[in-house]
Amino acid sequence: MERDIVGRDLLIFPSLDSTNNFCRKLLNSKVVHEGTVIWAHHQSKGRGLAGSAWESEGGQNLTFSVILHPFFLTPSDQFYLSMVSSLGITEFLNEFTDNARIKWPNDIYCDKRKIAGILIENSIIENTITDSIVGIGININQTIFGSHIPNPVSLKLVTGEHHPLKSRLESLCEKIDHWYFLLKQGKKAEIKNRYTEQLYRFNEKATFRHNNKVLTGTLRGVDGVGRMMLELEDGNTNHFNLKEVEFIQ
Ligand code: BTN
Repeated sequence: MERDIVGRDLLIFPSLDSTNNFCRKLLNSKVVHEGTVIWAHHQSKGRGLAGSAWESEGGQNLTFSVILHPFFLTPSDQFYLSMVSSLGITEFLNEFTDNARIKWPNDIYCDKRKIAGILIENSIIENTITDSIVGIGININQTIFGSHIPNPVSLKLVTGEHHPLKSRLESLCEKIDHWYFLLKQGKKAEIKNRYTEQLYRFNEKATFRHNNKVLTGTLRGVDGVGRMMLELEDGNTNHFNLKEVEFIQ
């Protein structure tokens, strides 16, 4: 099993529509080494979760995608790809600050503000994940954001310092590689435990929206398929899928 694969091949573009779209086209046209990273200084059509747009000032931030071939993982375990990417990002950020956390399922927050987002697109053939495109957007040096973006923050706003993008990308790739390697070794319990510890509002009471109703509960972690486990006020713990529940605060 190889280590240090993430970022070994790094392709840098001044501008792309979306690094995830570019990776899809690349995978459709040829065999791509696992760990290849596609980084664009500017994206004209950066994509976020649920069809939203990912807005990022050109040249100021990291907007890139990592290509993985997690043949060893079954589709029911695909949330582990989100866990290892989120852990790589929080570990990277926590070298500069103490308070980067994972807001379930895969937003990265510093204090109460969003600093990074992840868009993972998997190709599944029969019972195998043949390709995974892990698209990551991290606000690094941007200090002014559009008023319509809820609660944004950047590493520069958190640390007060400007950060060199390429070396930050390299160190981030190392962290993702570390967690992906543990996944390849089958260390799922270790990954899930660490992910749980790093969850924003873990073991705290919070309010959530579910079926147009407001729920109060305590976040107790995630289950093996990545559903959020919420202990409700009646003492029962319910498991919620991605689309079933949304944090209010
Ligand atoms: C989200 O929080 O909504 C996910 C945002 C993911 C953005 C990244 S930027 C690099 C990659 N290319 C894209 O088009 N999107 C992802």
